Amino acid sequence: MNSDSDLQIAGDILAVQHLLQPAKEHPSTVAEFAGLARSIAADRSQWAHLVEYDATTRWYHRLRTGPGYEVWLLSWVPGQGTGLHDHGDSSGVLTVLEGELTERTEKGTRVLASGAQRVFAPGYAHDVVNDALEPAVSLHVYYPGLTDMPMHGDRCSAPEAQDVVAA
Ligand SMILES: [Fe+2]
Repeated sequence: MNSDSDLQIAGDILAVQHLLQPAKEHPSTVAEFAGLARSIAADRSQWAHLVEYDATTRWYHRLRTGPGYEVWLLSWVPGQGTGLHDHGDSSGVLTVLEGELTERTEKGTRVLASGAQRVFAPGYAHDVVNDALEPAVSLHVYYPGLTDMPMHGDRCSAPEAQDVVAA
């Protein structure tokens, strides 16, 4: 304790709850949702054992739900993709956990390597595909939870294009 200060706290500071910042119960900003995705990505014990690869359809698993948001884990074998779609009223954060995904939008094509993140607002349209030769795994946070994934036109990149699953 600093003896030059007039202010001294006796006892356990953690017992004085009203002096502490309340812990956030759930993310509420873009940065916090991106941070949530990064923290899950960094802790493989939360997701690695759950990943499955399915050659017949993109595999997906709802990893977590919170107040108004959902976190989905997806796997992509080479060639699997979504087709061009948006996410209805949901915003989202896409994070590549393993492998590499290619995102196509009306503005161009972007290769997303492991660790890459894309944040998108409601109405954002993209086509996501695994154009690589190795499987890929990705994490998707949606706020609010994904209830609609409208497909756009006939720009489909894979037979799974009519799937209405998270992406
Ligand atoms: Fe998507």
